[in-house]
Amino acid sequence: MLGLEDKRVLVTASTKGIGFAIAKKFLEFGSKVFITSRNEENVNKALRELSKYGEVYGTTSDIAKREDRERLVREMLNTLGDIDVFVFNTGGPPTKAFEETTLEDWENAYKLLLEAAVHLTKLILPKMLEKRYGRVIYVTSIATKMPVEGLVLSNGIRIGIEGLMKTLVKEYASKGVTFNSVLPGYTLTERVKEVLMKKAEMEGKEYKEVLEELAQKIPLGRLANPEEIANAVIFLASDLGSYVNGVALQVDGGLIPTVF
Ligand SMILES: NC(=O)c1ccc[n+]([C@@H]2O[C@H](COP(=O)([O-])OP(=O)(O)OC[C@H]3O[C@@H](n4cnc5c(N)ncnc54)[C@H](OP(=O)(O)O)[C@@H]3O)[C@@H](O)[C@H]2O)c1
Repeated sequence: MLGLEDKRVLVTASTKGIGFAIAKKFLEFGSKVFITSRNEENVNKALRELSKYGEVYGTTSDIAKREDRERLVREMLNTLGDIDVFVFNTGGPPTKAFEETTLEDWENAYKLLLEAAVHLTKLILPKMLEKRYGRVIYVTSIATKMPVEGLVLSNGIRIGIEGLMKTLVKEYASKGVTFNSVLPGYTLTERVKEVLMKKAEMEGKEYKEVLEELAQKIPLGRLANPEEIANAVIFLASDLGSYVNGVALQVDGGLIPTVF
């Protein structure tokens, strides 16, 4: 099997969308999962839904805030006892062109997208090193390989995670912990649906038309379902992915046109 039974898993930003789908998939494979996001209502709703699939716990936290990250890891370890798999997911930064961004936007995006990854890894890694086992998977974006229009904050900052991931591979490969990243392409989450509906309204088009226009740009001819991103995370965390280390795995339906 996949070797995920009873694995203790933390998935951040996991009450909706891609993070939720990842948490659900781990539960389906028998892992114990800890979820988190900022809004208490979202956390409670997700816990209710996910508890149908297995043993799940959670707390509120804003991973852009240092004190919240410390409390999150404390609560997760108190609850699960240890950690085997850490899936770093975040909310997205605001969509803006470079000209519209302020230095404050850049500082906020740094805290959410990069500082959070560094800090949470620092808090969690010692537990993995103690038992010489761990899987760390950073969910980033195709923006780290192919800058996306209007997403300058994501394009500029997320690429730092890929550099972090490759460096951690060098420093910890002999200590039983692997590091990889998963780069979602356009994925049909509630947030993306809302963005497309807004775009349709602004352009005086039907939602279906705008969705189809976007789908046409993707070689597979459609957007991903969140479960399809989760499948890649599961592979990397499972026994099947035991020799995969330092990979930035795009799950984009063929959208990124380059070889590397
Ligand atoms: N969907 C796509 O097409 C796509 C493509 C490439 C990359 N991505 C990236 O993948 C990530 C997930 O995207 P998604 O579409 O699944 O987003 P989503 O549907 O908006 O879900 C985001 C989740 O993150 C939580 N969250 C947001 N900010 C947080 C924070 N500061 N601390 C803790 N939790 C936080 C949200 O809950 P609360 O509001 O309760 O905090 C929610 O559970 C984003 O970073 C996005 O940029 C998405």
